[in-house]
Parts: sequence; C-alpha cells; structure tokens
Amino acid sequence: MHTLSITWQSNNSNTMATNAASAPAGPIPFKDVVVDNVDLVATMPAERSSEDHDDVLVSALPSKPMVGSTQNKLRCYLGFWLPETFVPAAIGLQRRFVPRPDDVIIASLPKCGTTWLNALAFATMARRCYPPAGADHPLLRLSPHQCVPFLDALFAGGGREARLDVLPSPRLMYTHMPHEMLPRAGGCRVVYICREPKDTAVSLWQFRRSMHPELPFLDTFESICSGANTYGPFWDHILGYWRASESWPENVLFLRYEKLLRDPAGNVRKLARFVGVPFSEAEEEAGVVRGIVELCSLGSLRSVEVNRTGYMDGLKFPRKALFRKGVAGDWANHMTPEMARRMDDIVADKLRATGLTFQ
Ligand code: A3P
Repeated sequence: MHTLSITWQSNNSNTMATNAASAPAGPIPFKDVVVDNVDLVATMPAERSSEDHDDVLVSALPSKPMVGSTQNKLRCYLGFWLPETFVPAAIGLQRRFVPRPDDVIIASLPKCGTTWLNALAFATMARRCYPPAGADHPLLRLSPHQCVPFLDALFAGGGREARLDVLPSPRLMYTHMPHEMLPRAGGCRVVYICREPKDTAVSLWQFRRSMHPELPFLDTFESICSGANTYGPFWDHILGYWRASESWPENVLFLRYEKLLRDPAGNVRKLARFVGVPFSEAEEEAGVVRGIVELCSLGSLRSVEVNRTGYMDGLKFPRKALFRKGVAGDWANHMTPEMARRMDDIVADKLRATGLTFQ
C-alpha cells in the first residue's frame, strides 16, 4: 500500500509538508494522504451553511427545495442552483483557488459518468506509479472518489482547501461546479463529461431512490425541466463547458458519456493526449490502454469491495448506488413519450445554434 504520511511543519508560517516516502509524482490517492492523523476524505462540510461568505449573504439568495433532501436546499448563485452547503465553495473557488498549470480538473453534472471518468483519469495519469494490471492498484481498494478530491466539498468552508496544497503535481481533482465558477487564470486543464439529459434525469432519480425508495420520478423530472435542479439549469452548465471547449480547446476537453461507452479505449487515448501523457508505442503494445479500460469498467469497479459496501465518505448515500446500469437509452423505460418529447424540446430550444446536439 502506497501510503504517504504528511506532517505539518509548525515552525514555518507557510503550509509545508514533508513526505515520509520519497516524493512521488501526482496524482496520488487522496485517501492515502494523512495530515496530522486526519483522514482528508472523510471530513465533509456541515449540512447547512447560511452565514456570510466574504461579501455574499448565502441566506439572502433565492432558494428552492432540493428534491430528495429535507436537510439541504438549493440557492441560486450567479444564475445556478447550487446546494446551499456548496455556495461558499463556488465563492471560494472563484476567489481563492490557485490552479497549477499542470492541474487536471474533471467537471460534470451529477450522474453523467463522473465516477467512471475519475477512475479513468486517475488510472491514466498515475499509470507509471500504479500499473493498471498491478494487484495493489489503488482502484482495487479505494473508491474513485477516494482517489480524486472533490473541490466542492474542500472549498465549502473550514479551511479544508489547504489540503490540496500538499498534493504533488500534477494534481487531479473533480467538481460539479459550472464553468463560470472556476478561476480563469492558471491555464490548468479541464475535462468535462456530458450525458444525454433524459438518461441523466433517470440516473439521478434512481440514485436518489437509493436513499428515498418512494421518491416519484416526476419530482426529479419537473425540477430538471424547470432548470432549478442541483447545479442546474443543466443546459447552462453544459453550454458553459461546451463554449469553453470551443474557445480554449487546449484547456477544456468536452467528452460524452455515450461516446465513452462506444469507444472507451479511443477516449482514454484522447484523454491521455489532452493531459500531456500520451501512450507510447511500447505501452500500446503492452496493452496498457486495454488494462485501464478493464480496470475502470463498470463490472470491475462494481466488484471492488469498497464500491459494494458502506457509504460515501461524509455523505449519506450507499457507494453501490454509483454503479447501476451504465447504459445509454434507459430513459425509455421510465418516461412517457410526452415526457421525452418535452425534454427533447427544451434541449433543442436551449442548444439551438450552439453546434451541440444530442441527436
Ligand atoms: P446509470 O444510473 O444510468 O446506470 P456519476 O458517477 O456522475 O454519479 O454517474 C453515475 C452513472 O454512471 C450511473 O449511470 C452509473 O451506473 C454509471 N457508471 C458508473 N461507473 C461506470 C462505468 N465504469 N462505466 C459505465 N458507466 C458507469
């Protein structure tokens, strides 16, 4: 097990870290990083946060209930409906996050394949330290979300964001925040994964049902269509990253879940080139790409003990809820033709003349 012990040097006013192991290259599994005996992954922000954050009074922002949650609500910040707990993170990310030029950020709306892409990106970027076929690969003992830190939680308060400082470069992180909430400077790379909206809606509902089995689909469907759904409106979230990928293709890669399903190896090669670690001929011949795809396949991730049992660190949902069907077109099993048409019409209207379609 490649555990990195980090101790804080209290005699230095700047945050400094010393590694017990020889300095590794990133990304390293976030769960393995222990600072002052605190497990960095397991501590999450408090449920609610309405205080003042810098000069934004969170409790004064427009609010709506969050479907499937009695404890958290949505707040509209800069045109996006964010979980109230994460509004401070949006503010903190914009104001205090200092990306390194070689940082890689995975971005997505929930239920678009974030977990899968986190696993693929981690396995690809860390393959020199952790060969995908290795019996001690971190993804065989840790959830992908324990390997890749979640920016939204780290920036949500309590100074947790400083934990990112100890990570060796290149760092790999993930967020559900809209592109508008990420800092412009720094030149880091962002990989966005987008999914057909009807399938995303069904996946979100099924996920919520893992905590509230009685939840009707209609509540989730209506909130998504209205735009007032977690991190929504979904069309603005998608378009923010789509336009950024058109304007700055060297900084923002726009991937699609359905294409990843059809050609995982081709997309892993694209991802590796984009983050600056293309596969060599020797690696191709040795089957490294195939190994990564296999290691991160739904069947493989689902069979790992940590992904079958327990709850997401600091959150209330069972980890197994992250690995369900993993197909395209499941919406047809849950939507009436009218519902499907209504959502398709919204998408067609919002994406008109943008060059992006879901046909
Ligand atoms: P379904 O609910 O449609 O099955 P996220 O990680 O953003 O929460 O997305 C979850 C969705 O990705 C779920 O979709 C889940 O089954 C699917 N998924 C998770 N791991 C996957 C993998 N390795 N390959 C394909 N799909 C995967």
